[in-house]
Amino acid sequence: MATQTTVAQIGTYEGQAVILRGWLYNKRSSGKIQFLQVRDGTGVIQCVAVRNEVGEDVFARCSELTQEASVIVEGVVRADARAPIGYEVQLTDIQLVGESVDYPITLKEHGVDFLMDHRHLWIRTPRQRAILKVRAEVERAMQAFLDGDGFTRVDPPVLTPSSAEGTTELFHIKYFDEDAYLTQSGQMYMEAAAMALGKVYSMGPTFRAERSKTRRHLIEFWMIEPEMAYYTHDDNLALQERFVSSVVEHVLNHCEAELATIGRDVSKLQHVTAPFPRMSYDEAIAWLQKRGHDIQWGDDFGAPHETELAGQFDRPVFIERYPTAIKAFYMQPDPERPEVVLCADLLAPEGYGEIIGGSQRIHDFHLMEERFAQHHLPEAAYQWYLELRKWGSVPHSGFGIGLERTVAWICGLEHVREANPFPRTLYRLYP
Ligand code: 4AD
Ligand code: MG
Repeated sequence: MATQTTVAQIGTYEGQAVILRGWLYNKRSSGKIQFLQVRDGTGVIQCVAVRNEVGEDVFARCSELTQEASVIVEGVVRADARAPIGYEVQLTDIQLVGESVDYPITLKEHGVDFLMDHRHLWIRTPRQRAILKVRAEVERAMQAFLDGDGFTRVDPPVLTPSSAEGTTELFHIKYFDEDAYLTQSGQMYMEAAAMALGKVYSMGPTFRAERSKTRRHLIEFWMIEPEMAYYTHDDNLALQERFVSSVVEHVLNHCEAELATIGRDVSKLQHVTAPFPRMSYDEAIAWLQKRGHDIQWGDDFGAPHETELAGQFDRPVFIERYPTAIKAFYMQPDPERPEVVLCADLLAPEGYGEIIGGSQRIHDFHLMEERFAQHHLPEAAYQWYLELRKWGSVPHSGFGIGLERTVAWICGLEHVREANPFPRTLYRLYP
């Protein structure tokens, strides 16, 4: 009796008869022998059909198979030092499950637009599969770290009456007779939850109606947002560097094969251990000016600035204490210099830019009320957020890490779109 198994588990069945259920990735033939590359979601394995051994009928069935036909293969597992996974299957029988005629993604090169139009099929290829595996491991590592560090996951709403990160990038929708917006960030709800549970985090999709068409921007992206009661700015940064380095370490330990498939130079990730370097915004501006950039104190950084700043280091760098005027209304001013806030962006190396934005939050009722007025925030929609400062308010801090940017950096991808299974970009809502 053959045992049903997967490509990933094949090594435990050396010399035994197995059944694999998958799809035909590729095929070549030498007349008397056919080499079928079968993938099953866990990996790809070569199945060898020898005419003299399998008989005419099975051999003919192999001949008729086309790319991406779904198949159930029966055969005997053989160790093979030349095979990428160390084994191949000596095929004894095969059944066609679903045919595949004129599969659009051939093994030759295709343009990105074509591949994005066929994203529902593109994810079947080894590289895209590997990226999705790494993404899943990054999510697993993030959750494991936070769960193990005393955090409670709290899920904020996706439909909100107001904005967290500025009003220009909101997706507006009708909520019966009211106006609603897709969430840009769960932060405000996490602040409420931190006062209930101490240390909390959210993990879910967020939306930005940004007309940016860069390799770092998606319209819908996932964010993980930890929020911690009684945490100072320095506590926040110490947590972030432990968090990011543990995620990278987890991926290095669990995704060796995937990173190899993607072609990632993993030596670039091995330095990613805490502590991370820190630079103040002031120092960053002075450093950029010295390098000939036309940038003044008070300006925000563009992608080239971030790339150059991060390029000095072999691990992510914190840029701290930005001008109050260019950051979100809720950030706590530095008590010694109220013109800057207790915030930091974490910039990834190799040109990946900002992967984390975080800060200590204003906890004083009157200061928050002042900010509401300065920023013309609609009191009604934000009333509850202001009220948090009325009853048992405490200093607290938090951050948001972009999942796709983190995965793009860890995998060394050219564009964040490959880090999302079905990316939404400025001109793409399909498939
Ligand atoms: O810096 P941002 O806008 O911060 C916030 O939303 C805070 N409320 C988070 C918090 O403190 N709880 O976004 C945080 C991160 C960025 O550093 C980036 O990694 C990612 O979210 N991000 C994007 N990723 C892909 N496409 C976009 N359009 C993104 N915008 C932000
Ligand atoms: Mg930011």
